[in-house]
Amino acid sequence: MEATKLFSERHTIRKYLNKPVSKELLIKVLTDAVRAPSWANSQPWEIYVAAGEKIEALRLAYLKSFQNHEAHTQDLPTPKEWPEYIDSRLKKSFAESFKSMGIVRDDDKARYQNWKNNYEFFGAPVAVFLCLDTTLSDWSLFDLGLFANSLMLAAKAHGLDSAPAASSVSYPHHIRKVLDIPENQKIIVGIMVGYADVEHPYNQYISSRVPMEEVVHFRGI
Ligand SMILES: Cc1cc2nc3c(=O)[nH]c(=O)nc-3n(C[C@H](O)[C@H](O)[C@H](O)COP(=O)(O)O)c2cc1C
Repeated sequence: MEATKLFSERHTIRKYLNKPVSKELLIKVLTDAVRAPSWANSQPWEIYVAAGEKIEALRLAYLKSFQNHEAHTQDLPTPKEWPEYIDSRLKKSFAESFKSMGIVRDDDKARYQNWKNNYEFFGAPVAVFLCLDTTLSDWSLFDLGLFANSLMLAAKAHGLDSAPAASSVSYPHHIRKVLDIPENQKIIVGIMVGYADVEHPYNQYISSRVPMEEVVHFRGI
């Protein structure tokens, strides 16, 4: 797929078809993703791919924790506040996406269903968890971000859809146990992979961006 088209057609997909992804295809995607650059080619990423009975076990455990209102214990602390100009982007994004899903402010049931969907990994057949050794610096976290985008773009190029989700690592103890992840690795983020349920209301929202000129500061050109 042509690069510009690839960048514009990758969206976060929040509902998937009940259709498995073949291991052969996942191998192709991951073979592309590991070409991501990293500090001195350190390739700090440790990747765990959950599918089949493993993702179903995780989904069950997550649902239980979500329904019991268990506290989130992400390995990477979540931000508590944002500068105002960034916070307004978050608010705009939430408002627009809820509107496109037809969820109004006081519809608690619909809001609950939407959050629950996060803890069901959006119904995806595959969840890829991106991990890092606990001793690594922020630079390796930066490298992992590069890997994450490579993974999502490679998925799209190979006909798959994806969703990065902090919510998917809200209960890392379940992931660690089910996928046998050692204690010396932090579970940073999960990326769901599968085939989009294109008609679903959760998948109608196409996020906008602030104009490029607002965030890019040309100097001397
Ligand atoms: C680190 C990270 C965490 C995210 N966590 C969630 C999440 O928990 N739930 C969710 O629905 N979307 C999540 N997203 C998706 C973003 O909301 C999405 O990327 C953003 O709104 C831009 O939309 P797009 O990916 O469709 O271009 C996350 C994205 C990133 C990069």
